[in-house]
Amino acid sequence: MQILRNRKELDHLFARMRKKDLQVGLIPTMGSIHEGHLSLVKKSTQNKFFSLATIYINPTQFNDKEDYLHYPREEEKDIEKLRAVNCDALYFPTQEEMYPKGLKSKKTVDEFRNILCDKFRPGHFDGVTTVVESLLRTTHPDHVFFGEKDFQQLKIIQSLCQRLKLNIEIHACPSVRLRNGISLSSRFNNFSENDRKVFDKCAYQINLLITKLKNDIDAVSLSDFKSILKQRGVKKIDYTEIRDEENLSFSNTCNKSRLFIAMYVGDVRVIDNFILY
Ligand code: PAJ
Repeated sequence: MQILRNRKELDHLFARMRKKDLQVGLIPTMGSIHEGHLSLVKKSTQNKFFSLATIYINPTQFNDKEDYLHYPREEEKDIEKLRAVNCDALYFPTQEEMYPKGLKSKKTVDEFRNILCDKFRPGHFDGVTTVVESLLRTTHPDHVFFGEKDFQQLKIIQSLCQRLKLNIEIHACPSVRLRNGISLSSRFNNFSENDRKVFDKCAYQINLLITKLKNDIDAVSLSDFKSILKQRGVKKIDYTEIRDEENLSFSNTCNKSRLFIAMYVGDVRVIDNFILY
C-alpha cells in the first residue's frame, strides 16, 4: 500500500496510473479504521478498482472543539488495518490541500436539510460537503464508497454529486454491525466501562423495538421508547424517527422505511438507522 502525504505524491501516482487505465475507487474516512470502513475498501477491491482510502479529520464538520480534539487518532493501526485488506493507496490530505482558501465551509446542498442530524448539528453537513467536494476534486475518482450508517450524509452527498455534475458512481454500502446489532463507529473507542453497559442495554431495547415495529407499527409509541432509553441511562436523545428512505419524509409504515436514532451514551453520540422492511 502506497502512503501519500501530499498532493504532489498523489498527482505523481495518478500520472503513473492513467497509463494503466485503472478505475479509481475512493474511500473517504476520518480514520480510527474499523470493520465498517474496511467493508467499503473490500467492496472497491472486489470490483478490481484501484482503492484509494483517505484519512482526514475534518475540523469544519465538528460542532464543538472538544469533540474534534477528542476524536480518536490511530495512524499506525489504521495503516496496518488498511494494508491487511489490500487497499492500494492511503492519502493523508493536508489542511491546505483541503482548504486552499482557509478553514471555512459553504452550503451547497439544500435537499434533506433541517431534519435529523442537520437539526441538531447546524453546519455539520456544510463541513462534510465542503471536504467531500475537495476530496473528489483532488482525487478525481471513478467510484466513491459511503456507508449507509450515515444515511443522511449519503443522501446529501448524492445530491452534491448531482449538483456538481460529476461523473462519479456512488456506492452505498450496508452497515457493519456489532454483535448487539448497532453499527460500528470510531467514536465507540471513547466509551467508558459504564457507557458500554448502558450502550448494550439500549441496543437490546432497540432490537426489541424493531421487532415490535415490524410486527405492528401502529401499536408502538416512540415517546414511550425514548423514556425506556432514558431509564436505561441514555444522557440525551436527539431523535428516534421513522422515515422514508427515498425522500427522508416521515413515514407511518415499514414499507421502504427506516428507524433513525441519534442519542448520547455518556459523551459519545451514537447514530444509526435500521431497515424496517
Ligand atoms: P467516517 O465516520 O470515518 O466514515 C467514513 C465512511 O465509513 C463513511 O462513508 C461512513 O458511512 C462509513 N462507515 C462508518 N461506519 C460504518 C459501518 N459501521 N458500516 C459501514 N460503513 C460505515 O463519514 C465520515 O467519516 C466523514 O463525514 C467523511 C465522509 C469522511 C467526510 O469527512
